[in-house]
Amino acid sequence: MTAALLRSALRRSAAASYMSIRAFASPPGQQRKVAVLGAAGGIGQPLSLLMKLNPMVSHLSLYDIAGTPGVAADVSHVNTRSEVKGYAGEDQLGAALEGSDLVIIPAGVPRKPGMTRDDLFEINAGIVKSLCEAIAKYCPNALVNMISNPVNSTVPIAAEVFKSKGVYDERRLFGVTTLDVVRARTFYAGKANVNASDVDVPVIGGHAGITILPLFSQATPSANLSADEITALTKRTQDGGTEVVEAKAGKGSATLSMAYAGALFADACLKGLNGVPNVVECSFVQSTVTELPFFASKVKLGKNGVEEVLGFGPLSDYEKQGLEALKTELKSSIEKGVKWHANSKNPKINSVYEPIKPTFRPLSPHLPIYKPQTSSTVSITNRVSAIILTTVPLSYAFLTLKVGPMCLANESVYQAMYYSSKLGPIALQVTAIATVYHLVHGLHDLYEMFRP
Ligand SMILES: NC(=O)c1ccc[n+]([C@@H]2O[C@H](COP(=O)([O-])OP(=O)(O)OC[C@H]3O[C@@H](n4cnc5c(N)ncnc54)[C@H](O)[C@@H]3O)[C@@H](O)[C@H]2O)c1
Repeated sequence: MTAALLRSALRRSAAASYMSIRAFASPPGQQRKVAVLGAAGGIGQPLSLLMKLNPMVSHLSLYDIAGTPGVAADVSHVNTRSEVKGYAGEDQLGAALEGSDLVIIPAGVPRKPGMTRDDLFEINAGIVKSLCEAIAKYCPNALVNMISNPVNSTVPIAAEVFKSKGVYDERRLFGVTTLDVVRARTFYAGKANVNASDVDVPVIGGHAGITILPLFSQATPSANLSADEITALTKRTQDGGTEVVEAKAGKGSATLSMAYAGALFADACLKGLNGVPNVVECSFVQSTVTELPFFASKVKLGKNGVEEVLGFGPLSDYEKQGLEALKTELKSSIEKGVKWHANSKNPKINSVYEPIKPTFRPLSPHLPIYKPQTSSTVSITNRVSAIILTTVPLSYAFLTLKVGPMCLANESVYQAMYYSSKLGPIALQVTAIATVYHLVHGLHDLYEMFRP
């Protein structure tokens, strides 16, 4: 497809109404810095590209624990207005954030088949906490678009972090639920036999399972769908994420449609910041439209973020039931986030996914320092890294006493650490146990060597 054809196709698409594709035209005057945290990930990469196409962005800051120099170099070659910079590792996080108007957070681990969004809680809670602490320090006035799951808990965690740092402004914190809206529009269009780009469907509640409540009774253009069709559409919208997780069969969750949805929502935020009137999108925000402290509904965006949280209007009986049914789960997810933050007083335990570059120093000065060659950076929870950092060097010392510097056992421990850090909490625990096992073995070997 030629560039002209591609542009005209895009112009006709729904995206055109939200993300101006005058990306190649002369820049609007306002300077807007957007930071993407987790930019090297499945969502982060296409989202970074889409933000590079947004003409409102003047500076695009791409941060991840690793891999961002490559993503930034790649994206920077696209001939649009913004200047792109890549930042890798925690020591560059401040520079990545400084001066940002909008921070988008798709950092964290995604679901695998059989997992719920809540299964991601422990790891992603720590990631979100440490990133929000940095936002509070380096760009406290930025709007924050939270994509990391479980959004129903990560948004309350972010709020608690900002409160604890004295910078919380409820108008600036958003849980990104746009993908639910995008899915509801697409699925409805298929059933109602209308153009998906002409459809509007508000989606309220939260962003997980039954907490996602699409209001098909308010969908436009209206269509005469049966109760069974509405039930099926509602269920499909609620399970849309799982549909993708299962189809990807272990290779992650929605990334491309999420990047599109994230870019759509970021575009709306930027328009609001720039004073464009009547910008309305659904989002999970601090709210009083129900008794719950956070709730997703239509939100009017303005120069300071949320200008007005809009109510959800009249509901059908089916939607009223859905609303009542979702409240218990949503309330407990919100409380879980708040409680987790309250219990996370020890920053060493809960700031997770800190990159470490291990150098294993043996106890004996005659042995070489052990530097694993497999990867330059490992990301694991601090809780586990604390165990590994204390036990692995010791176990290395013991094992090297016995088998010499070519210590294969430690290489395998290191490999296990690295891969388990990619696989999730259960594997991390197995690795920790394996590491302790090596230490005990090392002690036993030592005892055997010096036994009279
Ligand atoms: N809100 C939504 O609708 C929605 C939809 C899909 C996925 N998600 C969530 O988005 C998140 C990312 O999904 P993905 O598929 O891109 O995952 P991914 O694993 O492909 O990418 C995540 C990226 O985050 C990075 N990262 C990890 N810890 C970090 C830290 N401390 N600082 C900066 N970056 C860090 C990783 O290095 C990786 O590049 C997951 O939590 C997923 O559940 C949300």
